[in-house]
Amino acid sequence: MSRTVARSGGPGPYDAFDHLATMVAVLAPDGRCLFVNAACENLLGLPRRSLQRSRVFDWVVEPAALQANFAAVVANEYSTVRLEALLRRPMAPQAEPLPVHAILTQIDHGEVLLLELVEIEQQARQDRETRTLDQVRVTKELIRNLAHEIKNPLGGIRGAAQLLELELPDAALTEYTQVIIHEADRLQALVDRLLAPHRRPRVVADVNIHEVLERVRSLVLAEFSRGLTIVRDYDASLPEFRGDREQLIQAVLNITHNAAQALAARRETGDAQIVLRTRAARQVTIDRRRYRLALELHIEDNGPGVPPEIRDRIFFPLVSGREGGSGLGLTLAQDFIQQHQGLIECESEPGRTLFKIQIPLP
Ligand SMILES: Nc1ncnc2c1ncn2[C@@H]1O[C@H](COP(=O)(O)OP(=O)(O)O)[C@@H](O)[C@H]1O
Ligand SMILES: [Mg+2]
Repeated sequence: MSRTVARSGGPGPYDAFDHLATMVAVLAPDGRCLFVNAACENLLGLPRRSLQRSRVFDWVVEPAALQANFAAVVANEYSTVRLEALLRRPMAPQAEPLPVHAILTQIDHGEVLLLELVEIEQQARQDRETRTLDQVRVTKELIRNLAHEIKNPLGGIRGAAQLLELELPDAALTEYTQVIIHEADRLQALVDRLLAPHRRPRVVADVNIHEVLERVRSLVLAEFSRGLTIVRDYDASLPEFRGDREQLIQAVLNITHNAAQALAARRETGDAQIVLRTRAARQVTIDRRRYRLALELHIEDNGPGVPPEIRDRIFFPLVSGREGGSGLGLTLAQDFIQQHQGLIECESEPGRTLFKIQIPLP
């Protein structure tokens, strides 16, 4: 007895699986795929229609173990088996196969089998991300409090130095009061920058992400006019979303600006390149929440990469790899994107640095 699952057109019996974060496939007893959910489609990187014509054994490297377990479940020896497998990614043939936990279960009285796939790395990665975000929040709070504490006495110190200057018997001594005043001003400016992002009220309206990117592109090209190419790779079908346009421009600008700075050597030789790429991503988890649709924005450069010694900390305040850097650019960018329920991540190696922004879409 076999059953066909209507997938073209109207709703199918397994559509509810599309809401799951777990990758799920429904299989016929001969291994043919009857249904894949959105998470599975996403991960394998192939459209449903072609997956639903394939056999599950073609999805994995060395399918013998899967075949044996599959047969055992079909033969009713077990109702559920668990195993580990290596998933091929046909759309990215050069990518490493993905280690997964696979769980095979009989459903509908053995007429069909349910296959659940859980990325082995995924859990570890999500834990790591959440920890980083928590850390960033704590650090931000700490910095903000500290900035306030420094700000208050600073005015007093500066004022007292000015008064002292008026009373000095020897004009040459003003050199010292000037140092106090100058340094107090410098600290004041730093503290203002630490506190500034939280001052301006947010302005929320419909945002077109490509308008944001075009603005950033022209700003960066105006500053770095020679030897730099900024390639656009836009998905024009992306919908507008509610957000603060200025915040988004600032966030993307900070990242793109860093990339342009890191590309100094390649700008000299004329082959510096930044790619601005937009895509839609489905079923995305950001900071413990799951979204059906998200904007994925890539800012990729072919520069030397983030210095390894600061790679884990670049989003923390005051972390800079540049002479004279404030180390606030990425902190601010992360903050702004988080205010859009989003997240920035970074992957970097010499020759390729990718900043990936995800923002939930309606
Ligand atoms: N695209 C990039 N390539 C190489 N290094 C980067 C890149 N983006 C950021 N960095 C590193 O991260 C550091 C922190 O950046 P940021 O927070 O903007 O502070 P700042 O630019 O003031 O140093 C930079 O100093 C740089 O060392
Ligand atoms: Mg910067």
